[in-house]
Amino acid sequence: VPSVVLATCADLPDGDDDGPELLAACRGVGLTVEWRAWDDPRVDWAAADLVVIRSTWDYPARRSEFLEWAHRVPRLANPAQLVDWNSDKRYLAGLAAVGVPTVPSRFFAPGEEITAPDDAEYVVKPAIGSGSMGAARFAGAADLPGARAHARHLHDAGRTVLVQPYLADVDASGETGLVYFAGRYSHAIRKGPMLPSGTVNPVDGRSLFVEESITARTPSAAEQEVGDRVLAALDLPWLYARVDLLPTGGGPVLIELEVTEPSLFLNTSPGSAGRLAEAIATWAAA
Ligand SMILES: Nc1ncnc2c1ncn2[C@@H]1O[C@H](COP(=O)(O)OP(=O)(O)O)[C@@H](O)[C@H]1O
Ligand SMILES: [Mg+2]
Repeated sequence: VPSVVLATCADLPDGDDDGPELLAACRGVGLTVEWRAWDDPRVDWAAADLVVIRSTWDYPARRSEFLEWAHRVPRLANPAQLVDWNSDKRYLAGLAAVGVPTVPSRFFAPGEEITAPDDAEYVVKPAIGSGSMGAARFAGAADLPGARAHARHLHDAGRTVLVQPYLADVDASGETGLVYFAGRYSHAIRKGPMLPSGTVNPVDGRSLFVEESITARTPSAAEQEVGDRVLAALDLPWLYARVDLLPTGGGPVLIELEVTEPSLFLNTSPGSAGRLAEAIATWAAA
């Protein structure tokens, strides 16, 4: 019987909300399976036929330790090289360069002073981050001192800062997340806007994520097309992927490709836990 470990973080010993569902689905396809924290020193990662990264959401402040762990795990999904590349939002620049419509993004390393539009809204957030932690929304020149103070907090923690225009169509239409397993589209969700005017999420808060409003969604043909294009740009195999798109007047644009530790919202789509479990079983047997 193939054995699988689902990797989480110490604060979420049974994974995310859909953790029990995934565990049951894996058992349903005949796998031996358990949840373990990625930084638990008692785990023999080499003993598993496959380790699947899931809710490891405490890694942004410890990314090098996390990547070291990923490279130590002999059979990891997604592959460590993909995690290296995808756990820093600078990958957005690479995807934009190969023609993927992407939220315009500028990166500022520690020591650099951020610049921002003086007559429009913008977002300041960490290049390495998850769960909307450290994300903040500002408006124009009047907010620049606040935006720079927020960037300074991130810089002081050694973190590179990402500045983007605030794409306000998200306020009415929400964000679309397309979920794929092993090359195939599975389901999609709508995520409500996460940054009401004036939001400054803490950089080093004790929580792992900001509460989200998630519902099932049928993606548009244009969203499907961009999602497929994003994934076609990857040259390493992946077991799971989520493509997050923001609506604009010119069509959907990529805000985030998640092939590291995405929430997959299995409880919004009947059958999706089973589809993921089948994909896990196939990878574990390979
Ligand atoms: N440029 C933007 N325009 C509009 N909303 C944004 C923008 N950047 C971030 N947000 C909001 O903040 C949330 C978190 O940002 P995201 O880039 O997805 O980082 P994380 O890795 O923390 O999920 C998004 O789901 C979205 O609601
Ligand atoms: Mg996101």
